[in-house]
Amino acid sequence: MAGYGKLQIGSVTLDNNIILGPMAGVSDLPFRVLCSEMGAGLVCMEMVSAKAIIYKNRNTNMLLEIHPDEHPVSLQLFGSEPEIMQQAVEMIKDRPYDILDVNMGCPVPKVVSNGEGSALMKDPALIERIVSALVQVSDRPVTVKIRKGFTDNSINAVECALAAEAGGAAAVAVHGRTREQFYSGKADWEIIRQVKEAVKIPVIGNGDVVDGPSAKAMFEQTGCDGVMVARAAQGNPFIFREIKSFFEEGKTCERPSRKEVYDTVIRHADMQLKYKGEYIGIREMRKHVSWYTFGMPGSAKFRNEINQMTDMDTLKEACGKIMLPPTVDT
Ligand SMILES: Cc1cc2nc3c(=O)[nH]c(=O)nc-3n(C[C@H](O)[C@H](O)[C@H](O)COP(=O)(O)O)c2cc1C
Repeated sequence: MAGYGKLQIGSVTLDNNIILGPMAGVSDLPFRVLCSEMGAGLVCMEMVSAKAIIYKNRNTNMLLEIHPDEHPVSLQLFGSEPEIMQQAVEMIKDRPYDILDVNMGCPVPKVVSNGEGSALMKDPALIERIVSALVQVSDRPVTVKIRKGFTDNSINAVECALAAEAGGAAAVAVHGRTREQFYSGKADWEIIRQVKEAVKIPVIGNGDVVDGPSAKAMFEQTGCDGVMVARAAQGNPFIFREIKSFFEEGKTCERPSRKEVYDTVIRHADMQLKYKGEYIGIREMRKHVSWYTFGMPGSAKFRNEINQMTDMDTLKEACGKIMLPPTVDT
């Protein structure tokens, strides 16, 4: 019976099978370090273009950076040409990632119109070629992340997962929505169950897991080998500690105190500044602070203030007002 526990992906053993999903603009190095510390069994990097790696695009270097404390970590490539993707892997072979993932789910028009991301699902034979090309050159396990299908009329996650397996993939993550749906509607977990039934490699279920009970329901309804959490981790790296505690102790641990949230935001911001500099780092923090404070009493009033933070002092001041009000216990 599938459920919470260790997970083997090729040569890599995950301590637990609750995984931070890849999120462009969110799952960067600082956020991944926090999620790892909170107990995520694997953290996934933001997608990186294979072509951008080859052309040595400046921003790509930052995307490829990995911290010693965040292992195991999965690096996600997007592209559509097997040879270009092989070259990209060759160029990043000294980077200390643990798993190489291929994006087959991105719905963004700019990506899809290049035949990349979820567009790959229109061509399962190409999926097999890409995976087998990468398996040839990669000394680390190759995995894929797919959706339910491209449109409601072309639901082919099972066929795509089988193609990836035939190419040598070590695992497949399935997001139970079509490309057409982007992120709307409810994720279909039945398709995840069907993929699990069809392939022998580990299947990671993804879509709408938000806490311990929903992770348990995902395991039970789909038989999947691992659960991937993406949006519910935004502003909430604590979710991994909570899901772990739900499975290991039979109850969800307390929500973090506001003081802990404050301290986490400051550490998050410190790392952003260290890796991205103050100008970009603080601007990146604006959305994170909005997420961290979502639902806190008075946070709406401070939204404007959050969007005007320009340095560490203004960030501390805004966050202190929301998270450390004198009358609230910390
Ligand atoms: C802001 C954002 C960025 C994302 N970026 C990526 C990405 O780079 N690669 C990828 O495979 N999926 C990406 N996704 C999809 C998520 O990994 C996940 O499949 C999706 O959000 C459904 O899971 P959830 O219901 O837990 O959020 C992104 C999602 C969001 C919201």
